[in-house]
Amino acid sequence: MEIANGYWATGLLGVAVKHSLFTRLQAGVDTAGRLAAEAGISERGAQTLLDGLVGLGLVERCDTGYRNTAEAAVFLVEGERTDLSGYAKLKLAEMSKLVSLLDVFRIGGPVTDAMVEVADNPHWEEVVPAIAAQSVPVARTAADLLGLAEAGEISVLDLGGGSGIFSSIWLEINPAARSTQLDWEPINAIARRLLAERSVADRFTCVDGDLHTVDFGTAAYDVAVYSHVAHQEGPEDNVAILSKVRGALKPGGTLVVCDYVVDDDRSGPPFPLLFASEMLLKSKKGGTWRRADYRAWLTKAGFEEVSFHPTPSPATLILAR
Ligand SMILES: C[S@@+](CC[C@H](N)C(=O)[O-])C[C@H]1O[C@@H](n2cnc3c(N)ncnc32)[C@H](O)[C@@H]1O
Repeated sequence: MEIANGYWATGLLGVAVKHSLFTRLQAGVDTAGRLAAEAGISERGAQTLLDGLVGLGLVERCDTGYRNTAEAAVFLVEGERTDLSGYAKLKLAEMSKLVSLLDVFRIGGPVTDAMVEVADNPHWEEVVPAIAAQSVPVARTAADLLGLAEAGEISVLDLGGGSGIFSSIWLEINPAARSTQLDWEPINAIARRLLAERSVADRFTCVDGDLHTVDFGTAAYDVAVYSHVAHQEGPEDNVAILSKVRGALKPGGTLVVCDYVVDDDRSGPPFPLLFASEMLLKSKKGGTWRRADYRAWLTKAGFEEVSFHPTPSPATLILAR
């Protein structure tokens, strides 16, 4: 029953963040009446929302009324670096797409135009700020694995860097590092704003264009990032892109792939297995790929050492040298 009613979780979370409920609770607005007044919604609606969020484990009762659980305080309060409110809003907006699911599974791909293969698709302008927060702990984990803080004057290439989240965190961690992001022009503009907010824009450069066709250069970078892009690409495109990355890295340079990676026997983990449906809905060739797929592609692309590392998110980090 919980699974069949799963859309209530998406709905209640989406409505709550639309009304800044977690941000208001954090600021001490703690009763249904006060929330209703501040958010401009009915008291019946506010009470039902609070009840549902208690059911989901995001809000809890306290002496005065309600408060955020520890998890909601970290991930759903606006202004926090780890704030996933934008992601929850995006998921609420996408619920209407689920009506096409029967056809999507029948034909084995998007019913209307695929979203991820389209050049300069405005889709990305909504997605990249919304997903940035989930990469915060991942970028920090990668920085630790690579010893980036002590790495000195390194140059980084971030392919499909989106919001610029990896660059922003890494340039803060290492004040001598420089980073170049390749993405579509409107997305690079979003990244430039984030890097400027973090006061590291002077060490950040953007290349506007399509990662299938842009030349990445030769032996120019110490580290390359390919985060949440492999799942939108098919196997052949991934091999082609990863081969270009190998050529763009200096000898001994490291590629960091971040993605939802499936076990070789397809028995888990749950999130990557479920996310494959998102790619069926939105892409013509994407999917969630197995460790064995990444190992084979990276070997084909000329990498010799490949290792897999868990992160605090559902994503896995793959390091390749
Ligand atoms: C899912 S987002 C990942 C963003 C970022 N790497 C992260 O982990 O948060 C995919 C990114 O790849 C970019 N992208 C997708 N296809 C691209 C292409 N063909 N050329 C350049 N960028 C592309 C999108 O604009 C978007 O910023």
